[in-house]
Amino acid sequence: MTYTLRVSRFHPDSPEERFFSEFEIDAEDGMTVLDALIWLKENKDGSLSFRYSCRMGVCGSCGMLINGYPMLACNTQLAELGAAVVTVEPLPNHPVIRDLVPELSSLFDKHRGVRPHIERGEPDVAPKAELAQSIGEHKSYSQFSYCIKCGICVSACPTCATDPAYTGPQALAQAHRYSQDSLDDGAPARMEAVDKEHVIFNCHYAGACSEACPKGVDPALAIQLFKRRMAAAAWGLWEAQKPTAELPQQGPNLKPDIPPPPARTA
Ligand code: FES
Repeated sequence: MTYTLRVSRFHPDSPEERFFSEFEIDAEDGMTVLDALIWLKENKDGSLSFRYSCRMGVCGSCGMLINGYPMLACNTQLAELGAAVVTVEPLPNHPVIRDLVPELSSLFDKHRGVRPHIERGEPDVAPKAELAQSIGEHKSYSQFSYCIKCGICVSACPTCATDPAYTGPQALAQAHRYSQDSLDDGAPARMEAVDKEHVIFNCHYAGACSEACPKGVDPALAIQLFKRRMAAAAWGLWEAQKPTAELPQQGPNLKPDIPPPPARTA
């Protein structure tokens, strides 16, 4: 089938000139929007700029607005769009560097602002044994750890669209992901970091972030869970989570043929 690709163009040397380039492309079976853009760059217009790396929905580089909806270009086949004309634009709610390339510095700065790493209460004390984590404890945050930092949730979020200072769903979901980890002691510092203007309580729970997330992370849920934890902590109802001593070999939904985890090493 033949598609018309309308690609948004922008060059920083002439920022007032924004326009669309139109290309015809004969799509092969299974051709993704990213495949089409690569073909156009190699065969029609070498100046076309876009960002990608893994081509398999893992690196988070190829987020774009495709027919008005933020998606990963490598994870979206032309055929599934159900339209002969496909319009590709850069992700909204981010500045544009060139053509389809968004500037994501603010996404990463905000991500860093929620301390997205495991923090131990006594960082200078070396653990004397492996820190165990039960399957249930792992499940309580694993969904939120699938974030690939593509910026699509920020593009979908109406609060980010109206308040550029808002921390946004990506970083706030990661504040919950790390605080929920039973090996982490950094929740109090994260709660303090997000309890400010333009941060967690500016989420209006539109849910657009969760609908758009290509990895099923559900940032809206993570934000509400972290709000609940903050409220419970403020009332003295939240006990600090500690790693459990026991590591169960069999969890509730474990498939029967999965080999057991290796023995502890320390
Ligand atoms: Fe890596 Fe699309 S190229 S997610």
